[in-house]
Amino acid sequence: MQVTLRVKRFDPEAPEERRAWVQEYRVEVPEDSTVLDSLIHVREYVDETLSLRCSCRGAICGSCAMRVNGHATLACKSKVQRMLGKDGVINVEAMGNQPVIKDLVVDMQLFWDKVRAVQPWLQPQGTEPEAEYVASNEAMQHLVGVMGCIMCGACVSDCTVMEMDKNFLGPAALAKAYRFVADPRDDAVKQRLGLYNQHGGVWDCTRCFECVQVCPKGVAPMDRIMALRDQAIQQGFTGSYGARHAQAFERSVEHSGTLNEMALVVSTYGIFNLPKLLGLLPVGLRAVYKRKMPPLIHRAIPNVKSVRRIFKKVHALEQRPKG
Ligand code: SF4
Ligand code: SF4
Ligand code: FES
Repeated sequence: MQVTLRVKRFDPEAPEERRAWVQEYRVEVPEDSTVLDSLIHVREYVDETLSLRCSCRGAICGSCAMRVNGHATLACKSKVQRMLGKDGVINVEAMGNQPVIKDLVVDMQLFWDKVRAVQPWLQPQGTEPEAEYVASNEAMQHLVGVMGCIMCGACVSDCTVMEMDKNFLGPAALAKAYRFVADPRDDAVKQRLGLYNQHGGVWDCTRCFECVQVCPKGVAPMDRIMALRDQAIQQGFTGSYGARHAQAFERSVEHSGTLNEMALVVSTYGIFNLPKLLGLLPVGLRAVYKRKMPPLIHRAIPNVKSVRRIFKKVHALEQRPKG
């Protein structure tokens, strides 16, 4: 079958005005080819200057992550037939949020720095076990999904927060963080949660779902971040704006069945935090101008009792002993 690959190229050694360009390659490849097969075909037979990274070609090593048609994915897992647009073109470019070294190869230093920052190793305390610490199957089963991470960087590439704020630990590192918090052999849970609760940690995720969508291994980093938030609150880390916002949100819905936006802002920042509250004044004025201002007197929805019953059940479930 005939495929046109539209590849975003980058050559750091070219004069500045010619460093980045888009190049099209029209190639004939077998029907069951992947995007990676097609790119390798280009490199082998058409243009040996095209740079890309790959190894296993079986969705195991994580080295061929790149953006295909705008979203990060493993090129070796993406069949050309599925990726072809109506115009017969597949758009390929390097991953996002990481500096491009050449063509489709990025520098993953930032990725690894973030992973290292969450301390991805077991931290047992007390006397070391005489022999291997064997964890039961039941205690480890729930970690199988998150341990499937192959460190490909696709989630980091498409994380909408990392695009704006490189200080954010990001989806891959926080999924890794969860893997150690939830490991029965680790004794540093509280200390870890304190670390992940800081600026750039779990509360900076905007729940955009991108990392869940692009992860080729079903790790669902966002869900792990939400689990870390819950645990942080349970362990008493309730002072951050994020934690206060989440708790105020829950209280409001439990009380009135709907969100009291005015109270949410005040509860999140604190009534005496005048610099923060005054900083929100322009937003408030814009809301008034656009007629989007929430009502000053917040009322409960008519059948709020049903909502409260749901919360009661959830609280009862939370109190149940685990296991
Ligand atoms: S859900 Fe959170 S971590 Fe995942 S991509 Fe969006 S902002 Fe990033
Ligand atoms: S969480 Fe998924 S997308 Fe992110 S690095 Fe791991 S395998 Fe890749
Ligand atoms: S080449 Fe190993 S994951 Fe694609």
